[in-house]
Amino acid sequence: MKTIIEPFKIKSVEPIYFTTLEQRKKILFDAFYNPFLIKAQDVIIDLLTDSGTSAMSSAQWAGIMLGDESYAGSNSFFHFEKTIQDITGLPIVIPTHQGRASEKILFSVIGALGKYIVSNTLFDTTRANIEASGAQGIDLLCAEGKIPSTPAPFKGNMDVDAFRNFIKEKGAENIPLCIVTVTNNSGGGQPVSMQNIREVRAVCDEYKIPMFIDACRFAENCYFIKLREKEFEHVPVHAIVGELFSYADGCTMSAKKDAFANIGGFIALRNEELAMQCRNLLIITEGFPTYGGLAGRDLEAIAIGLKEVMDENYLQYRIRTTEYLTEKLAAAGVPVMQPAGGHAVYLDAKAFLNHIPVTQYPGQALVAALYLAGGIRSCEIGSLMFGKYDENGNLVEAMMELVRLAIPRRVYTQSHIDYVAEVIIEVYNNRHQIKGLEVTYEAPALRHFTARLKEVDFLFLYN
Ligand code: F0G
Repeated sequence: MKTIIEPFKIKSVEPIYFTTLEQRKKILFDAFYNPFLIKAQDVIIDLLTDSGTSAMSSAQWAGIMLGDESYAGSNSFFHFEKTIQDITGLPIVIPTHQGRASEKILFSVIGALGKYIVSNTLFDTTRANIEASGAQGIDLLCAEGKIPSTPAPFKGNMDVDAFRNFIKEKGAENIPLCIVTVTNNSGGGQPVSMQNIREVRAVCDEYKIPMFIDACRFAENCYFIKLREKEFEHVPVHAIVGELFSYADGCTMSAKKDAFANIGGFIALRNEELAMQCRNLLIITEGFPTYGGLAGRDLEAIAIGLKEVMDENYLQYRIRTTEYLTEKLAAAGVPVMQPAGGHAVYLDAKAFLNHIPVTQYPGQALVAALYLAGGIRSCEIGSLMFGKYDENGNLVEAMMELVRLAIPRRVYTQSHIDYVAEVIIEVYNNRHQIKGLEVTYEAPALRHFTARLKEVDFLFLYN
């Protein structure tokens, strides 16, 4: 088999600015060891997120010029609406400015104190919006999804037995929604199988619980289904996508991911009464229902991107990128989540830095080390992002301590990825010099965005 090449040519480029190790030491210190506080210009390879960072195609840029900026009933809205209806089969489409705006609206309508929203794994903004409504978010991930080093084809699957037991314990009347995240971002970008979607749907039907999909990375998930679920081996991705959404009562989506857009999102659904309530909130918070916080040109870019993302040459290259990086790291002994996720490579920071206790945030310490060594910006998905304190003020650990290297879509080439592998392997070989971190400032919610940290001044040597 020959090299799987980038299925695009580059028409427009932007410069990367290089920094020295000495400069990065100061930058990191000044940013309180928090990558969100580092200026983008001080980053060499930016793997903080795949969200809103895609390179748009020439067709999308052409669409930008076609954007109809009418306040009500713009052509661009109808293009956007029809595209989403065609792809998902969901009849009602409500634009929003990004994923969390969709979540805020949906959960303000259906969430309340005493209610539970059940998922395979909720993304952090999804959980925060559920909790802001008074409801609780419940993650019921399958067992294999919780062990980073053990390969399994569908580590994003929901634990269907646990779902059934949870309904029996809390009562179906207290569960207004089940939302399946595809792919499971917080659990390593791992896919959910069609079989699992069908089983979850069957339980939802039995107890009359609506099922939604968090569709941020629907195309990547469906490509994994094609690769790994025998039944779909010869089925085109767009048909797999159609079947996936056919089981859903609705979805929320951040168009900043699989729609290759720099901003945008939507809610799509079947229930007219729920849609009316969402639209009423939309008008207060986002805008009129035919633009929902977006410019007409954004609606065009999203509509075009949603069709482009189902190109199987693109998806093959996309999935190969993360697999290629994972293979290189695994061959060097680096503890990396297996198999590779769709949009990102996840390092197992607990295993990588096993001399740093979870209370000293090994994930964030690894993020800092990668920046220092090579100007690579990554993101902790562990106890800094998800950790809470118990009533005695002790840290309640997250399920896993991961570092995510999210790959922006169509932005970096193979040599950028080779460089990333070289830096990580170098850091791994010098891992014993890395120190843990402590938090000096934190906000009450979503603390990882603004937290300030410093190095603890001793090395924890209990291993
Ligand atoms: N759901 C999932 C699964 C996500 O990954 C994200 C965003 C959202 C919802 C919220 O969408 O950012 O448009 O408001 N994930 C980004 C990330 C931020 O880096 O993974 P948003």
